[in-house]
Amino acid sequence: MNATMSLEKTQHYPVMLNQVLSIISPQHGGTFIVCTFGGGGYSKAILKYPNTKVLAIDRDSIVKQYADVLKKKFPGRFNFFQDKFSNIDKIIQANENPKSIIFDLGLSSFQLLDDKRGFSFKSKNSLNMQMGLNKYTAYDVVNFLDKECLANIIKIFGEEKDNRKIAQKIIKRRNVKPIKTSEELASIVNEVKKNYNNYKKNTATKTFQAIRIFVNQELTELIIGLILASQLLSDGGVLVVVSFHSLEDKIVKNFFNLYSELNKNPSRYLPFKKKRDGLFKLLSKKPIIPNKKEINENISSRSAKLRYAVRNDTPFINAEEFKKNFKNYFKIGEIRL
Ligand SMILES: C[S@@+](CC[C@H](N)C(=O)[O-])C[C@H]1O[C@@H](n2cnc3c(N)ncnc32)[C@H](O)[C@@H]1O
Repeated sequence: MNATMSLEKTQHYPVMLNQVLSIISPQHGGTFIVCTFGGGGYSKAILKYPNTKVLAIDRDSIVKQYADVLKKKFPGRFNFFQDKFSNIDKIIQANENPKSIIFDLGLSSFQLLDDKRGFSFKSKNSLNMQMGLNKYTAYDVVNFLDKECLANIIKIFGEEKDNRKIAQKIIKRRNVKPIKTSEELASIVNEVKKNYNNYKKNTATKTFQAIRIFVNQELTELIIGLILASQLLSDGGVLVVVSFHSLEDKIVKNFFNLYSELNKNPSRYLPFKKKRDGLFKLLSKKPIIPNKKEINENISSRSAKLRYAVRNDTPFINAEEFKKNFKNYFKIGEIRL
């Protein structure tokens, strides 16, 4: 199956599209930066409104064919950059003045459902798990990393308490022959966790999450992406993030809490108090989640959490405090193969 065929068969449903649109209000025009183009769902919806411009980024070269269609359809109003969003400061001009910067994290359906990419437990094709522009594959991680590093990655990025047993089993198996497919990896983890009969998800879920995060450096990408996006936004610009698992959401929540003042009026009898000392105005500490209808129509949306905040004019000086809160993620990122 070649890349084009897989794309034609697959559809990606943009998660919480209506909620995102009502937050960023493209009907008033402006420039929007979509850091995770994917199937182009958000970008297309924004471009339907006149006087809008979309600058889209995605690390995966496979989506370029969708981006090319939008480039033709909306000349001068759409541009695509195949890059990681941690390079946003090199891609987007500092004077672009975007109305909003949007991150919709995780995998697209094209990536998840393409057997060759090896994201699925059932993939018999290869142990790859690369989103694009990577330094190594999941095959390299599983077959060449030492036991200590492997166990650490599975613990920190997978929150898997059987990390040591799983790493031990992987080493034992690869000493006999290389672990070549995602299906083989899943079955090795399933053997370790065979007593977890009541486990609702595949018992390899946490290990797969961990290896995928490591291969794509997803968490440090997010940390850097949030910092750089905040530097690009000016007064009134909106930062929107849709995340799909607790490690991502923890980062987003921590970022907004650290750099925002909750902009809620303590009493309806008092004049609205405008706080100006944070980087952002945070309108709610609670995330927005998809409604039942959306979850029924698109089961992958069930774990999505949307958080957003509005930038004020405080200059962004130092992000060290935020980075320090996640220093173990950066440390794991330094592991070399
Ligand atoms: C869930 S999909 C986005 C779907 C999109 N919102 C839509 O409406 O079609 C996530 C996309 O983000 C991309 N991505 C993930 N991490 C990235 C990163 N660090 N830099 C650039 N793109 C990234 C993936 O390659 C994938 O195509």
